[in-house]
Amino acid sequence: MNSLYQSSIKSLPLLGHGKVRDNYAVGDDKILIVTSDRLSAFDVVMNEPIPGKGKVLNQMTDFWFSKLGHIVPNHLTGVAPESVVAADEVEQVQGRAVVAKRLKPIMVEAVVRGYIIGSGWKDYQDTGSICGIKLPEGLKQAEKLPQPIFTPAAKADLGEHDENISFAEMESRIGAELAAKMRDVAIQLYTEASEFAATKGIIIADTKFEFGLDENGVMHLMDEVLTADSSRFWPADSYATGISPPSFDKQFVRDYLETLDWGKTAPAPALPADVINKTQAKYFEAIERLTGEKLKA
Ligand SMILES: Nc1ncnc2c1ncn2[C@@H]1O[C@H](COP(=O)(O)OP(=O)(O)O)[C@@H](O)[C@H]1O
Ligand SMILES: [Mg+2]
Repeated sequence: MNSLYQSSIKSLPLLGHGKVRDNYAVGDDKILIVTSDRLSAFDVVMNEPIPGKGKVLNQMTDFWFSKLGHIVPNHLTGVAPESVVAADEVEQVQGRAVVAKRLKPIMVEAVVRGYIIGSGWKDYQDTGSICGIKLPEGLKQAEKLPQPIFTPAAKADLGEHDENISFAEMESRIGAELAAKMRDVAIQLYTEASEFAATKGIIIADTKFEFGLDENGVMHLMDEVLTADSSRFWPADSYATGISPPSFDKQFVRDYLETLDWGKTAPAPALPADVINKTQAKYFEAIERLTGEKLKA
């Protein structure tokens, strides 16, 4: 598997490097989004690529876009990434890029939680609520919630952590109508996706969606969708409450990083080969289980 840590497409204007994606302008209404093999943990980008990870994320997102397209429009244009770059740049985009509608990002991330874990579990232990949403007493770590909950987060500037906000705060930032629409669509996307994943032996514990508006103000699903980076995927056969269940995502890296004396700010510590290899295997296993197909080269 060839690896791409950072793309360098010279034939298009660079819009910017995110933690994982590199964005380029295609005309003034489209963008080329190249998903690199970078891995970020605790919002810090690691120095080593996870070979093929970007392809996994891109192909998972494509899979969900086609499965969930009836719920909400998405940013795909259908334009082939290979057709918008120079011949000697084709290899950089193959299997890991999309040409998307250039949308105006809504600066609130749509987080949906079906299980109580991570920061939600911490919050619940302290307050009996997650992001101000009161929950029943006596829930155990990793327990399924009575129904999925919507816990928005304000999109942070580069290098900052996203910040949980209340639904009322979301309404005041983007308007009540758009906030309600985002919440309802996000819950529906999560519900359908988690029902499908369950048939493949995967629990989607939680996930994050991003939306943007087109030139007519129509809300579109954008960015990455239900990937192992934006979600917690648990193999159903090793799921249990009272623990943090093993997952198909970068939990493996996070667990390793927790063993170090590292302040979770850049620069990142070096990842051992064994951590890189195991993490790569998790991403590949996730896409094969979910789609029933091997990664396309
Ligand atoms: N269709 C789109 N139009 C405009 N911006 C988009 C679109 N799809 C994704 N983005 C933005 O592109 C960036 C993707 O890069 P990524 O590495 O995921 O960034 P981040 O570090 O912010 O997570 C994100 O800021 C995302 O909001
Ligand atoms: Mg992102």
